[in-house]
Amino acid sequence: MKILVVGGGGREHAIVWKIAQSSRVEKIYCAPGNAGIAEYAECVNIGVMEFDKLVEFAKEKQVDMVVVAPDDPLVGGAADAMEAAGLRVFGPRKNAAILEGSKAFSKDFMKKHHIPTAAYETFDSAEAALDYLETAKFPTVLKADGLALGKGVLICNNLEEAKAGVKTIMLDKQFGAAGNRLVIEEFMTGREVSVLSFVDGKTIKIMTSAQDHKRAKDGDEGLNTGGMGTFSPSPFYTSEVDEFCMKNIYQPTVDAMRAEGREFKGVIFFGLMLTPDGPKVLEYNARFGDPETQVVLPRMKNDIVDVFEACIDGTLDKIDLQFEDNAAVCVVLASDGYPEHYEKGFPISGLDTFKDKDGYYVFHAGTKLEDGKAVTNGGRVLGVTAKGENLKKARANAYAATEWISFDNKYMRHDIGKAIDEA
Ligand code: AMP
Ligand code: GLY
Repeated sequence: MKILVVGGGGREHAIVWKIAQSSRVEKIYCAPGNAGIAEYAECVNIGVMEFDKLVEFAKEKQVDMVVVAPDDPLVGGAADAMEAAGLRVFGPRKNAAILEGSKAFSKDFMKKHHIPTAAYETFDSAEAALDYLETAKFPTVLKADGLALGKGVLICNNLEEAKAGVKTIMLDKQFGAAGNRLVIEEFMTGREVSVLSFVDGKTIKIMTSAQDHKRAKDGDEGLNTGGMGTFSPSPFYTSEVDEFCMKNIYQPTVDAMRAEGREFKGVIFFGLMLTPDGPKVLEYNARFGDPETQVVLPRMKNDIVDVFEACIDGTLDKIDLQFEDNAAVCVVLASDGYPEHYEKGFPISGLDTFKDKDGYYVFHAGTKLEDGKAVTNGGRVLGVTAKGENLKKARANAYAATEWISFDNKYMRHDIGKAIDEA
């Protein structure tokens, strides 16, 4: 088979690496890819939003499957464009990806179908939002309706912060059109868990759980980022929690989407909060998580191409999805200053050390090749993942492996998975 993967970050590196393990695959293309992905795939210089070019390329190369990984193209209708051209595509159509594309949609959807989530109100004008805040309880949570690189959520401790937040999102439009509508929701407390799942329109199969660390600095201080590290599984995701979620969240979501004529095929990522009142949905994503994928896929036993096909064909019920009985930790190596100002273009050394090491992986997030050598090319540069028989060992292995890599201005958190030791 020939497969085209759309995307070019750490998540896509993990997906491409996993596809490359399949004996059924003879050629992988990746648009646009990155320096790490180039080891397994032919990278093609087409942007993820250039649907016409992607379709043309996929047709010309006669690819058997297109895997669309990032949120922007999915929410923008990449799967529809591929399908219209007769291509087989893994990823939800636009009318299903809206589960991630609009927070107002997803909140209304959950309310309508009695899926547990935080109480909320939606606003189309800053004036109405400000009025409402006068009587709100604090802390409260402001969310830009649309896609905002995972940064459109503001937790406000008092009225003053909330007013400033409304200005940032709705008036200054810091997240662009994503801020035309605003969701204000109840602040929840508890442990956060990320649960990724495969969905074929009617059947849903849950992958192993994971937890992200979104803040830039140790101790969950600093600004929100795209994710500074992950571990899998989450010790807080027990079989009771899993059972509750399957009955009250996962299957109801898939069934309700189907009933609404929005059949979902692809990956649903459930961002969950394990609150004192039980698990509730923080958010839906219509795709693999980044950097959750970097700890989940290395533990997956199945041939991922079989699973992708089953999702496309509606035969996921026939797949016995299996994960290794171990753990994995991913530590993101970032450019110092991320997510604000940082320098890039520094040579990276030590990447080869991973080549002959079983259970150790280095996934490229923001790198590029310059004269055949990898250099830093983004805020998040690499994701160093290691497995271990339990979380503690995986964590020690991952941190040991971070030492193999060097580049100027290398920055990382030192407490990824630390909650585990304290659990
Ligand atoms: P989201 O992009 O919706 O996942 O939000 C980003 C982060 O904000 C989440 O990972 C949570 O840490 C936090 N968050 C979002 N919604 C809430 C909420 N209702 N209560 C508490 N924290 C929240
Ligand atoms: N790690 C969070 C996300 O992918 O949205």
